[in-house]
Amino acid sequence: MRRPFIAGNWKMHKTNSEAAEMVRELVNLVQGVDDVDIAICAPATALSTINELVDNTNVALGAENMFWKEEGAYTGEISPLMLKDVGCEYVTLGHSERREYFEETDEEVNKKVKAALKHEIKPIICVGETLEEKEAGETKEKVKSQVLNALSDVDSNNLAIITIAYEPIWAIGTGESATAEDANEVIKYIRNVLSNEFGDVADQMRIQYGGSVKPHNIAEFMETSDIDGALVGSASLEAQSFAEIAKFSS
Ligand code: G3P
Repeated sequence: MRRPFIAGNWKMHKTNSEAAEMVRELVNLVQGVDDVDIAICAPATALSTINELVDNTNVALGAENMFWKEEGAYTGEISPLMLKDVGCEYVTLGHSERREYFEETDEEVNKKVKAALKHEIKPIICVGETLEEKEAGETKEKVKSQVLNALSDVDSNNLAIITIAYEPIWAIGTGESATAEDANEVIKYIRNVLSNEFGDVADQMRIQYGGSVKPHNIAEFMETSDIDGALVGSASLEAQSFAEIAKFSS
């Protein structure tokens, strides 16, 4: 009942011309791929270019971050209005790299989630534990608090369009993904948390796995009971590998 969702997160990669080249190729490769939502979350400088290239295709556009204010004296920041204007349907929020390198807090992530929803941009909220937390048996506690803090005071009518991406930090960019079984267990737990807190709408919320997802391992994740798709980093930079992941998921 939940449509699979494969999103690419390019991080700080690709100039405008590189983005255009990749997206042109991707659009051709995934043409006619049904039963899966596909999105590219790209750097702000490439959004406008990509928006023109994905018009009338099955590839949606997302941003990688935004500020929660609509406008004002916030040098260097990008607002939800600006993202909406360049055609963003999605925005990733609270990625572990933003939490680590830019000291984003749960409270800031929550403000961003509410601002995105106000402007009908669908948040992809990233949560996940460090290796130390995993080894200390604190994974569930960590993701529960990140999920509930991110969703604090969110209007329950908006919950269904939110995606949660479970990305164990130790699996990001390392080539060492979580096992499908372990990822599924955490994702099932997140759905229970959502269901206890918000009721039936939890069944509509998509929960992705992220962390070294590649064409060779996507099938294992998609075969599990609770994983609804993937947030893909490095394998989304290349049209062929990202298209393969999307096709496996449909
Ligand atoms: O947001 C996606 C991400 O952090 C995973 O990156 O390169 O391990 O697929 P990667």
